[in-house]
Amino acid sequence: MNTTNKPKTTIVIFGATGDLAKRKLFPSIYNLYKKGKISEEFAVVGVARRSWTDETLRETVRESIQDQANADTETIEAFCNHFYYLPFDVTSSQSYKELNDMLTRLDDQYNIPGNRIFYMAMAPEFFGTIATNLKSQGVTDTPGWTRLVIEKPFGHDLTSAKELNDNIREAFAEEEIYRIDHYLGKEMVQNIEVIRFANAMFEPLWNNRYISNIQITSSETLGVEDRGGYYEASGALRDMVQNHMMQMVSLLAMEPPINLTTDEIRSEKIKALRALRPVQPEEVKDYFVRGQYGPGEINGDEVPGYRSEANVDPESITETYVAGKLMIDNFRWAGVPFYIRTGKRMVLKSTKIVVQFKELPMNLYVTDKEQIHPNLLIIHIQPDEGITLILNGKKFGPTGETTPVQLDYSNNTIDNANTPEAYERLIYDCMIGDATNFTHWDEVYLSWKFIDAISAAWKDQEGLHTYQAGEMGPKEAKQLLEKDGFHWWPVNNEGKYSI
Ligand code: BG6
Repeated sequence: MNTTNKPKTTIVIFGATGDLAKRKLFPSIYNLYKKGKISEEFAVVGVARRSWTDETLRETVRESIQDQANADTETIEAFCNHFYYLPFDVTSSQSYKELNDMLTRLDDQYNIPGNRIFYMAMAPEFFGTIATNLKSQGVTDTPGWTRLVIEKPFGHDLTSAKELNDNIREAFAEEEIYRIDHYLGKEMVQNIEVIRFANAMFEPLWNNRYISNIQITSSETLGVEDRGGYYEASGALRDMVQNHMMQMVSLLAMEPPINLTTDEIRSEKIKALRALRPVQPEEVKDYFVRGQYGPGEINGDEVPGYRSEANVDPESITETYVAGKLMIDNFRWAGVPFYIRTGKRMVLKSTKIVVQFKELPMNLYVTDKEQIHPNLLIIHIQPDEGITLILNGKKFGPTGETTPVQLDYSNNTIDNANTPEAYERLIYDCMIGDATNFTHWDEVYLSWKFIDAISAAWKDQEGLHTYQAGEMGPKEAKQLLEKDGFHWWPVNNEGKYSI
């Protein structure tokens, strides 16, 4: 890993005319350029089916960055001049030949030593074909390094994920494959390890002797928007749980790595996922709850139910909400439930982790509640970033009562314009060859294995609950915790964590 030099590379974006390129990739690469993290020695080649020209692509790039707070006309122009476009047919060998010629030319023009990043930002059915063609047509045959960045979904179940993996492994070695999970690029997701492993007051307590349960919530207010076609076959389980939620679980559950190298961190995450208790199809109803949003209100606006969204079957049984209980059967976590929930059209956009500590062996104090408030550590992932600790203190005045005290640390006060977005970090990591915040195949394998049993049990309508758009999910998700004697801690941002 080389973090001192500015990486010199060409980035080939497959699907450069698409939404992801415009919304995330161009602005992120611009930020890296603007901050001086990449030198002038780089080029971006956009490829897609449409017959665009360099200028059409540059115009799109301009549009995608001009509204950014840090954008200025001079750097935008200089930046856009690094962009080139190639109309491309993923199945034609001629296209790969033209691409190779173009890349060789750009290597000379920009003094790039043959380093190439191939970024798959398009329909997943072509990932395998492109990867194998890149190799067979000699595009990966360069004096520099080659890396493949691959967006989700990585398959739609274990079988298809394996097939895709076998295809891309024909052309790229595991260490050249960067499987994106954009949650791993988020500031506070990266902070989980630091909170755990750099604080003497947490790590000794981070186990089943002191923690009663962990809750991870990732709620969205948006519906499926124009992604009905994709989402129908995916649902919340494949769209959010298999990747983002399970990644957060593994970071919370992993053992301390012996050092912070990619291999050591990954191997601990993999070990945690291996300890996940498999859920048998007949047990799924005891561990998982699924829901689908009906019509309702979001921020005062009426919104349609899922079944009335574009490209959605009016009788769809696709889940837009999942709550689940994951058990990790190892010495550290035996008996501690990890509850997860995620959904679309919920009451607010928020991702939070709540670590609930066990009660003390006895209560010496008078409280106005039946019990002393449990200690909570809350990790705010988004939109607010920070940590909250709920402790107990003495109620003010001549009383023997206790009261919960809330200590907040917020990242939000830090200049947000300078906080890199997830994609910016991940693209940079890939450029410098740091794969730590990308998913290893073994992680993908283990999470699909776990998820497949659940989707197998969700083949029909039975057990699909509805919730009104604008609610926090179906009531059955509350019961999932209540039967274990717990409840979901609120995720609103008003500090209302007391019972
Ligand atoms: C994506 C899902 O991976 O994550 C989307 O495909 C979802 O459906 C998104 O909206 C959520 O990401 P974030 O960063 O907004 O929480």
